[in-house]
Parts: sequence; C-alpha cells; structure tokens
Amino acid sequence: MPVNICQQLNNANDLDKASYVSSLLSQMTLKEKIGQMSQFNNDDDNLERSIKMGNVGSVINEVNIDTINKLQSIATQESRLGIPLLIGRDVIHGFNVIFPIPLGQAAAWSTELVETCAKIAAIESSNNGINWTFAPMIDISRDPRWGRIAESLGEDPYLCSALGVAMVKGFQGKNLSDNTSIAACAKHFAGYGASESGRDYNTTNIPENELRNVYLPPFKAVADAGVSTFMASFSDLNGVPVTGNSWLLNDILRDEWSYNGLVVSDWESIPQLVTHGFCEDEKFAAFEACHAGIDMEMASKTYAVNLPLLIQESKISIKQIDTMVSRLLALKFDLGLFKNSFTDPNNREEHLNNAHLSIAKEAASKSCVLLKNNNQILPLCKTKISSMAVIGPLADDGYEQLGTWVFDANIDSSIACLQAIKNYVGDLVDVNYAKGLNTSRSNNQEGFKEATKIALTADVAVMIVGEEAILSGEAHCRSSINLPGCQEQLIDAIYKTGTPIVLVIMAGRPITLEKVLPNVDAVLFAWHPGTMGGPAITELLFGEACPSGKLPVTFPRNVGQIPLYYGQKNTGRPASDATFVDINSIEVRAPQTSLGMTSTHLDTHFSPLFPFGFGLSYTQFEYTNINVNMHSVSMGESVEISATLCNIGKIDAEEIVQLYIRDLVGSVTRPVKELKGFQRIYLSAGQSKNVVFNVHTDELAFYNRQMKLNTEPGLFNAWIGSNSATELKVGFGVILASE
Ligand code: NOJ
Repeated sequence: MPVNICQQLNNANDLDKASYVSSLLSQMTLKEKIGQMSQFNNDDDNLERSIKMGNVGSVINEVNIDTINKLQSIATQESRLGIPLLIGRDVIHGFNVIFPIPLGQAAAWSTELVETCAKIAAIESSNNGINWTFAPMIDISRDPRWGRIAESLGEDPYLCSALGVAMVKGFQGKNLSDNTSIAACAKHFAGYGASESGRDYNTTNIPENELRNVYLPPFKAVADAGVSTFMASFSDLNGVPVTGNSWLLNDILRDEWSYNGLVVSDWESIPQLVTHGFCEDEKFAAFEACHAGIDMEMASKTYAVNLPLLIQESKISIKQIDTMVSRLLALKFDLGLFKNSFTDPNNREEHLNNAHLSIAKEAASKSCVLLKNNNQILPLCKTKISSMAVIGPLADDGYEQLGTWVFDANIDSSIACLQAIKNYVGDLVDVNYAKGLNTSRSNNQEGFKEATKIALTADVAVMIVGEEAILSGEAHCRSSINLPGCQEQLIDAIYKTGTPIVLVIMAGRPITLEKVLPNVDAVLFAWHPGTMGGPAITELLFGEACPSGKLPVTFPRNVGQIPLYYGQKNTGRPASDATFVDINSIEVRAPQTSLGMTSTHLDTHFSPLFPFGFGLSYTQFEYTNINVNMHSVSMGESVEISATLCNIGKIDAEEIVQLYIRDLVGSVTRPVKELKGFQRIYLSAGQSKNVVFNVHTDELAFYNRQMKLNTEPGLFNAWIGSNSATELKVGFGVILASE
C-alpha cells in the first residue's frame, strides 16, 4: 500500500501542530479541503466511498466500535491523504451509565461532581471510538416550557459558567490527546434558551446588553477554559439566524474573544437559512454560513455542493477555506488522531462498574431537591413503619427515569424506585405497589381503585410521579407544565384516603405544583435521576443520605408567570407584599388607581412557588453574622464577605451556601440579585463555621451602554444564605483607587 501524505508527515517525526497542519494543508486539493468541512450522518448510503474519496471530515452517530475502526481505517489508509475522522455523538449526561439530566446535575451545585460525571462519560464513549461530544449545553434557560431546559444548567449565568467549565474539563481531561479524553462542544451559541413562548427552534429577540450580560458569559467562560469546539444555534437571533450571523461568530467569538477552535453548524442548520427566509437558496446559505465562520457542516451537504462554485466565482476565497480547514486539522492533531485513530476493543474496562455506578448514585442523590417536609415526615424509618404503598406511573420504570438524550444507555441496569425500596426494607416493611396510571400522560383513571385500596391500609404512600422522558428534551416543549395526564387527580384520590403522602417527582423541567402541594406531606424533586435513581432516592427517603440539592432554576406557581427568574430587574414599580392585591378582594367598580400600581398579576402572587437556590435538608441551618472585611473596596482589589453557618439540627449534613450581590445603581439597570459564589459545606449536627467569599471588583463588572465590560464604583449589597430569597444582608462600596 502506498504511503499516504499523513503517514509521510507522521514519519517526519514530531512536527509541531502549526507545521503539521500547514504541510498537510499545502498538499490538499480544494475538494479535499471541503471534504474536511463536511460531517456525514452514519446512515449515509455513500459513507465509506465518500471517506475513501476524502469527502468526509467527521461522522456523527456511529457508536459501533468495529464500524468506527473500519471507517477510521478507510480514512487513514485508503484515502489519498490519510486524514482521520472526528467521530461525534451526543454524549449529554452519560454514555452507558446515565447520570442525572444536566439540569439535575446543576441542582447538585458541585463542580467536582459535574466534572467527574463528564469524565466517566468521556471514558465510556472514547472506549467506543467516539472522540467528540456535543456538550455542554450552556444556554441560559428561563422558560420551563422549553423542553431543552432539561439539557441546560439552569437560569443563572454564574452557576452555568462554573458547571459548564467543569463539564469541559471532565470531557477534555488534562490533555485532549489522552485516550480517554474527548473534545467538548459549547452549544448552542447563542441565545437559544430565549426561544419565544418556550417553543423549540423559535425566534429569539435579545437586546445586545442582555445578550452580553446574561446569555454570553457561560460561552466566554468555556472559551477561556479551552473548549475545543462551538456549535452555532438553530435559532434566529434578532433577525439574523446564528448560522449566518457574522457579528456573533466573527466579531464576538473570533475577534473579541480570540477563540480559535472549531465551529460546527447544528443539524442541517445551513440549508435551514433558506427556510428562515434569510437566504434565497442553498448556495447563498453556504455563502452566508461560510462568511460567518461555520467551519463544519453537520449532516447536510450545502458546503460540498456550493463551495466550489462560490470559490470559482471569487465570492469565497481559498484563504477563508484554508483558515477553516486549519482549525479542523488542528483539532484532529490535538486529539492525537494523526498518531492513532484506532480504538482497541480489548483495552476497555467494564462500563457498568462499581466506581461509575457509585458516582451515578452520588450525583442522583446530591441533585434531588427536598421542596417540602411537613412535620419531618421524612426520613422514613423502616423499623417504625410496617406497610407502605408505592404508587405512580414512574415508580417501576427504569427507562423513564433516565431522561432525554440517552441513546447509548444500558437500560437494563437502570434501577427503579420500587425495586430499590423493596431491596432496602427487605422483610421489615410490607410494600404494595400500584401504578395508578399507565403512563404519566394517561387520563384513564381505572387504576385509581387499586391505588387507593393499597394506600388505605398503608402507613405511608410514596407516590412517584412526573414526566416521562419523552416529554422534555429537544422539540418536546409544553404549554402547561403541571403534572401531565391525571396525576393531580391521582394524588387527590390518595389524599382522600388520609394516608400521608410522600411525593417523588421525576421530570425534565420545573413543574407547577401549587395545586398538589397542600395535599402532600413531602416533596422530593428528583429530575430525571439516571441509572441509579432508584437507590439514590431510596437512601434519601430512609435517611441513609440527606437531601442537599438546590434549585438551579425558579419554580413558578403557574405558566402565566413565565419568564420568572430571580435575577430580574427591580422596575420602577416593584411588587411588594405591602401593596399586593388579591383578585378576590377587589371591589366591583373599584377605581383604576386603587390596585397598588406595581408590577404584579392580579390573579397570582408575584413571588415564585420556590425560588432559585431553594432546597430543604433533614437538618436546619442557621445563618448569622454577615460581615465585610472593609466597607469600601478599591477598584482592582477584593472584598471578603463572610457569615456564620451553623447546623442547628440533629443530623450531619451538607449545605450549599450562596452569595448574592446587588449593584444598587448602574449605568444600565442591574438585577435585584446576582449569584457570585457558592460553597458546599459539610457540618455535623451542632457544628458551625465561618464561611468566607472573596469577591474581586472585576467580578462585579457588567456590560455597560457602550457594551464595554466595566465595574462601576458605587454601593453594593451582599447576601449570604440558603437560597436567592435570603435576607441576611450587608452593604459595601466600590471606590476608584484614587478616592
Ligand atoms: C440537534 C441539536 O440541536 C444539537 O444539540 C445536537 O447536538 C445535534 N442535533 C446533533 O444530534
């Protein structure tokens, strides 16, 4: 077999990246360059032939290790150049072992845990020959109707940035060329989470200042942390679809941020520029996407068909193409693919091993949020109850608890709650089970009879309800976000039996719970917890573990409140309890000015049902003594903000301590609260600790009217507490260094 060009370069020994890439580029034909810019789906009829001809730079969705090795061998040995392939896959929250959905992982508020979950996903997927994942998804998500909120890290720029960076570190490891590292992808750049009415793929209109202060920070953070790739969003941003948005992709990403990694389109988003009504045909779409700097086209063939023509007509220059192809080759170099693209099928550890499963259990446990616990009904004690009813459509379903994006999950290993509860209580407690409803969407109440029958004789009813996996995720949006089907009626029926109810909710988004809340004694919100959901929830229910998760997103009372998030602006007429008017108290023909004149709805309270950062524990934590080490901090220095945290309950537990600030006056208005720090602190019962946060004045910066990142001198408030509604506050000032 003749030695191909990559083999020659490899033999030339240890060329540095720049020399390798430019030598290779200098020997490529235009067709081969455009080939590198094309990602094929694995079901493409001409895949192998196209690879051989040098027309493919990447393959998406192939997970069979033998097939991947075969494709890599065609690429590296049978094509003229021998360039290996990027093998892409949506490894979103685990590969074979599934961790909680990203929104659930975010509820654990733990960068270490998120990094470890991503590391395990990277190990498992790279063992299969995958070298590129399309995660993390770091779209700020403030609309729970949007199905993709499940994939997100929540509503807050600070939390999302910290966890996004952790995920990138987990996927990419210390060195991208390590066998178990895979390239990460920051998506969907940018603003996708603002899809109007929470409907997927919908228009987004985001003022530049809001874009820079809220939606872009997580992307900037992962770019600075070295994420290898970015994905352009499907969405239309302020009238210019992102796939053709040169301002966002060139001016901001490349020029302002100096980002030099690869940018991939989303699935067929280049031809969709025509559907958007932004381009008259696919040729123009290829032109716009190429000018915007989309280096690789996912799934469609707009580039392959049109770029040669556009170059011939001098509408696109070879220089542009070379820059884009260089980025692609550089990534392949960084991944070590030129040295070795073969994955040894014999050199892989068992994926469902104890270490991976135990992290999956820890992640599920730490992501569960205790929303209610009347009279300390939880934790249950297996020696104090003699019978329990386990009820609900999600109680005995290992599949549904995995959530969205689990193409490669090992479903048989997923342990549902019913089995885990039975394993745990053994013969000590009589466990009866009734599904009540066939699915979470079912309106057929035939099963209620059986469910109420077992509840009537039980000491406690544990109801496991929520949303099936298919009700959230891409293109799975809902206009109402209550418990679907007849689940509310099922809860009502069990409530009428008089047996105390512990409600466990598995869902891909916040659920409106105002109606059911009064009828249940406890609520544990478990998101879609993944493979080890059952055991993790069981341990929490029985006090083998203590709930510590906190909401990464606000829970509204009803959909009419959306968008509702803690970092809102104050407005000129903020709502307050003092002026709140209940609709039922309004007199007939009351004068127009009688109603408080503040920013509220008449038919619902202005506050959320549960605020961002909220989550109970089996113990109680007390916060006192908030302090600043100086009342005025000079620009360029740090202020130390501290408070005493005391575990005043009877149980050793972890608390997520949160720091919020408010910039009281800004040249553009600032949110009423902004998260600026968090720490997971373990305290044994009775123990206390001084918790300290250091905040540099740079961390108080925001984009001003001139779109410049700047810290403005003036007064600030700082709060330390257990959620965003905390009132423990201290003030400090930022002064110019010369003052
Ligand atoms: C479309 C989705 O928007 C994106 O998140 C995903 O990575 C790609 N499809 C590939 O499956």
